[in-house]
This record gives sequence, C-alpha cells and structure tokens, in this order.
Amino acid sequence: MTSRLPGFYRLPIAERRKRLAELADDKINVFSFKAIDAGGLTLEAADGMIENVIGTYALPFAVAVNFVIDGIEALVPMAVEEPSIVAAASNAARMARPAGFFSTMSAPVMIGQIQITHVADVDAAMIALADATPALLADARRLVPRLAERGGGPVALEPRLLARSGPDGAMIVVHLHVDCRDAMGANLVNTLCEALAEQVARVAGGRAGLRILTNLTDGRTVTTRVLIPDANLGDEGNGAEIKEAIVAASRFAELDPYRAATHNKGIMNGVDAVLVATGQDWRAVEAGAHAYAARSGAYRPLAVWRSTPEGLAGELVMPLAVGTVGGALHNHPAARLALELAGVGHADRLAALAGAAGLATNLAALRALATEGIQRGHMALHARGLARAAGATGELVELVAAELAACGDVKLERAREVLARLGERKESK
Ligand code: MEV
Repeated sequence: MTSRLPGFYRLPIAERRKRLAELADDKINVFSFKAIDAGGLTLEAADGMIENVIGTYALPFAVAVNFVIDGIEALVPMAVEEPSIVAAASNAARMARPAGFFSTMSAPVMIGQIQITHVADVDAAMIALADATPALLADARRLVPRLAERGGGPVALEPRLLARSGPDGAMIVVHLHVDCRDAMGANLVNTLCEALAEQVARVAGGRAGLRILTNLTDGRTVTTRVLIPDANLGDEGNGAEIKEAIVAASRFAELDPYRAATHNKGIMNGVDAVLVATGQDWRAVEAGAHAYAARSGAYRPLAVWRSTPEGLAGELVMPLAVGTVGGALHNHPAARLALELAGVGHADRLAALAGAAGLATNLAALRALATEGIQRGHMALHARGLARAAGATGELVELVAAELAACGDVKLERAREVLARLGERKESK
C-alpha cells in the first residue's frame, strides 16, 4: 500500500472511493463508503447519542495523502470545515517523504482527581495516604478486572497538597493514575474516582469533594519528529533559505504567546480534523493541549523547528488522550470507517496519526507564512467555494474560480456574472 496518490485531488468523489477501496485491505470496498453518505449517521443513531436531537449535522470527510508514519504508509482521515487543511497536510507529508514522521508514545496513563477538603492534619494525611497506597491501589484494581487482563489498570496514587488553610479548610488532591490501554478512559477513570473517594477521604481525615479526571493528561503524550531535507522545502534551490525562515517563525512562537496561540492553532487544525473524523473527544484533547502548552507558566508552542545540516527538524510534544474502543465509536459508522481506512487498530497508532497530522499542518502553515503568505492559496480555494455558491458545477467550477482569482475580485456577485457569461458560451457551443 502507498499513500502517495498523485492527482487524487482531481478525481471525482466516486473515483476517489474506488481508488481507496483498491488500496485498502478486504475490509473496505466501494459499498463501505455508504457509511459516510449523509453525514454517516442515521437519525435513529443520532437520537441515541445525545439529547433533544432534531437532525444530524455533517462536515466534509476527506483523506490526507502522502503520509508515512513510523515507517508505515498511512491514509489520514480528516473531517473539517476549513479549506486548505487537507491539502496543506498532504503537501507537508509529501515533503517529509520518504522517511516520514516518527512518533514515541508514553504509556496510555490517564489521571483521575479526588479532591479532599477540611483535612484536619495535612502532614499526617500525606503520610497516611502514602502508607495506604498499596491497599487503595489493590482495591482500585479489583474494580476493573477486565482492564487489568488487558495489561492496564490503576498504576499509582499521588497525593498533592493544595492548601494548608482556606474557606474549605486544608485541601489535598489525590491523583489516581490509570493505564487505560486502548480506551480514552474518561468513564473508567471517573468510575474509579467515584468508587474510591470515600475511602481516600477517610484515610486523609477529610471530606471527599470532586471526583473527576483531569484533561491535562501529561501522563499520556505523543512526541512526533520529522526531518525535511532542504531540497524538499523549495524546488528553486531556495530550500536552505526557507528552512531558516521557518526556524525564525518557530522562534517567534517561542518568544511570544500571542504568536504561540496561532502557531498551536495551526497544529490543532491537523490534530482536530483527525480526532473529529475518528469520533474522538476533541474538546478534551484541546483542553489538555493548551494546559500543557502553558505548564511552565508561560504559554509556549507545542511544536518547534530547528535548522540542522541534514535539513529542517521539527518536534511536536503534546498530550493526546484518544481511544479505539468505547466512546462514539460504538455508534458512529463514519468514525469506524475512518479507523479502517487509516488501518488503525490501537490507540497508540491513532495518536501517532493525529500527531503527524498536527506537525504537518504546522509545517505547511509556517512554510506558507514564511514565504508568500497564506492568502493566495486561501483565495484560490475561496474562489472555488464562491463558484459553487454561484451555481457552477462540473468543469465550470474551475473555470469560474480561475477567472475570479486572475482578476483578484473574489466576490459572489462577480462569480455569478462570470458563471452567466461562461455558461452561455458553453451552451452556444
Ligand atoms: C489558519 O487556520 C492557521 C494558521 O493561522 C496557522 C499559523 O499561523 O501558523 C495559518
């Protein structure tokens, strides 16, 4: 299988589906794509997922091409409304070939928090909690025997002193670290925290408060690296120059939180598109990503770029709590199809895909910003959108868009005029 599919973007949708079915293993054929028709969700399934349903709400579903991740070719599923993201990811992935992206995963450890207020003696509580840890962990493990069978389960208990005094007395939080294997783990962790809270509060000599996971999942991170040879950055012998400009753009984000926020938005463009396509809780990952970016006290970029003699070296480190069992995957056929298309069997591989997509969209944005700017590319796409909005179909879309882009007047009114003129000419032929 290769993810290098030149000209894929020019094919009609039915041809793209056929091409993917040819590439995929026998789990996917042209009929598999019925799962993503009409948003991939029946009204009945939607009604079972959330409350007060009145319909379904669809997004474009695409695959980014050219990715090699940890030595394996990958089609990267993306669901997103913003033009350019899929093209940007695919272009950056092409620059990264043949080596592609490399990822390192931490163990899939999620953290649950048990808040204890009104602690009578915090020093004694910290000692008592340390002494009781083996027994508390053993009780916690008994609550999740199936997870333990899969090699996961509660692995550590960590009391943290938050305040010696305050309106709620002294406050401690006890962190329960749980290896969630292929589950995202929110339900697992919340269940465990609720079950253990009273016992923990008794040991600590205080009152149990909140019992809920933290989305700052710094025990569950992905590190993604890429090295782009200078020659792949520019085809006019200007690769080394573009490399230095991207490094300066990275440094800008490292020095300035205003820029770091936008730099990280460019990363989340890729990450979130993969998470949405695969039915993940992207709000959880967003919350964790930004808390992690600010963990030093200053808001920092999640990915940085450095110049090396071998090329441009990029590294992304971020928390990525994803799951390939449970969650929306039970109910969403399009999310299941996305995982199958990408050949994802485990949470680690899904995190690797999301990390690679994030580093790719970051690279593409920085390359564009450090050279010609992003507006020309955006305008070309915007022109196509306007051509369609004006009623153009088939080959007229490209013709109308090209004329709008060439005259620089990328507006709906102008698109209608151009379409009327070109449409008449076509009819009179
Ligand atoms: C737009 O969706 C994302 C960018 O603003 C990211 C960036 O500035 O790095 C282009």
